[in-house]
Amino acid sequence: MLEFVLFWSLICFSVYYTVQWTIRSSRKVLPGPKGWPAVGVLFEFDLSTLHFKLFEWSAKYGDIFQFEVFRKKFVSLNSSDILREAFSKEPNASITSARPQTFVGEYIFDNYSDIAFASPDSAWTKRRKLAFQLIRSYGDGLSCIEYQIKKKLRTVSEEIRHLDNKNVDPSDMVEEFILYTLEILIIGQSSGKNGELQKVLRKLDFLINATANPGIDVVYSLFPFLRFLPLRTSLMFKEIQKTKQRMLDLMELLSKADTTEKGVYHTVVDVMNQRDEQGKQWFTKDNLSNLLMNLVVAGFLTTRGTILSMIQLLAKRPDLQKALQQEIDRVIGPDREPCLADREKCHLAEAVVIETLRYISHVPLSLLHATSQATTIGGYSIDKNTVIVPNLWTIHHSEKEWDEPFKFKPERFLDAEGLLLPSNNPIRKRVIAFGFGKRSCIGEVFARSRIFLFLATIMQQTTILEPEGKSLEDLLPREMVPGVSLQPKDYEIRFVLRSNLRPS
Ligand code: HEM
Repeated sequence: MLEFVLFWSLICFSVYYTVQWTIRSSRKVLPGPKGWPAVGVLFEFDLSTLHFKLFEWSAKYGDIFQFEVFRKKFVSLNSSDILREAFSKEPNASITSARPQTFVGEYIFDNYSDIAFASPDSAWTKRRKLAFQLIRSYGDGLSCIEYQIKKKLRTVSEEIRHLDNKNVDPSDMVEEFILYTLEILIIGQSSGKNGELQKVLRKLDFLINATANPGIDVVYSLFPFLRFLPLRTSLMFKEIQKTKQRMLDLMELLSKADTTEKGVYHTVVDVMNQRDEQGKQWFTKDNLSNLLMNLVVAGFLTTRGTILSMIQLLAKRPDLQKALQQEIDRVIGPDREPCLADREKCHLAEAVVIETLRYISHVPLSLLHATSQATTIGGYSIDKNTVIVPNLWTIHHSEKEWDEPFKFKPERFLDAEGLLLPSNNPIRKRVIAFGFGKRSCIGEVFARSRIFLFLATIMQQTTILEPEGKSLEDLLPREMVPGVSLQPKDYEIRFVLRSNLRPS
């Protein structure tokens, strides 16, 4: 009897392992660089410019490949088709909507109580929905924000009038404009660049840009005790926490001001008083502070990079400026203020914005995703807890997808009549600057509205020229300053009022 049981057990085991082995060997093995034992590919790239290495590897290994750092598995997605398969088709869309565990998510965003660094659960879904609705339709909808943006653009125009023809670094003006619109969105008021809140927001943004990079995160996640040592980065992390508290204190103070102007803050504070079906507070003080941090960080550097890049690119293209000015004169005229309704008739301006976003690809690796369970992408098996790297830099600069990808050519988004290609056109669909699917950017409409109104106002009133007595470098995406969001290097230009250039 024992022999009989042993015999059949052996047969069953053999069959089981043969089937497993056959399944495993029939799986396609993901290509990718081998790396070193334990550390993986850690020493094969500069941590702040990982996107350059991934671009190089994608040429060798294809649209999907894997690599390891400290035994953690990363899968890089390098074409718009593979990204769609991973992010927009179920069940992958749900599986890949998780975020990896990060030091920043845990320590800076109070154990993932924000939106951007947290993985989905029912509370997160409610938080994201709330934030999305507030940004998209705050007050009377975008028209309320539009009114405020236009008000600020009047002071920008005034400033430009004073600067007429002088060499100027436009970053101060652009930063003030963006921070003002964020203050209006969040708290309904702004005291301008000398106001305490704007100074605090600016400081917070630059601290986060200097610290929240994947390289620093890998090291601090592995050795979290480093945050207690007097290292430069650890001190910056401490400073972030202090500055965040200062931001909250200021917002609380400002929210008590006797004014009718309200912002996201006021609504969210009301939501904090609500209870869910179990009688529990579903939106806590930590959720509030970290949502505000998300908006301040995601809403500043991304838009700063886009507007400053656009100004530099235009300064080098007088022909393009002329065409933009003709479009704006035709649609808006010289006297009426540009408004959001003009967007649909300003085809070239829209193409310039889209091409700027593609060309600079300044959020090169989007935000990292992770798999919440094992799945298959592109025919390859991907394990649970794999970090997914949406390689937007490569998708936007691949020769397979673009003609002359490192050239700034807004006309690639226009048809033969000069009309903007529809958003479902395959060429438009390859631009994924705001991500897509369950984790796509919640600030896209807000960001694009600000950028369009800025561009239209500038082109209506001025021509951007190279500086006097100095040269202006071409904006080359590969030479942008690294950070959470790549930024153009400092530069100077001249704004010259069009009225001064018109023949008398
Ligand atoms: C040019 C401007 C902007 C660009 C290029 C941009 C790009 C992105 C990208 C690539 C992502 C990650 C998508 C993903 O994980 O798959 C993202 C997420 C996010 N963005 Fe933006 N963004 C911009 C402006 C803004 C603004 C103005 C706000 C808010 C005021 C904002 C708030 C957010 C938030 C909260 C997330 C996280 C969403 C989530 O994790 O579910 N962004 N953005």
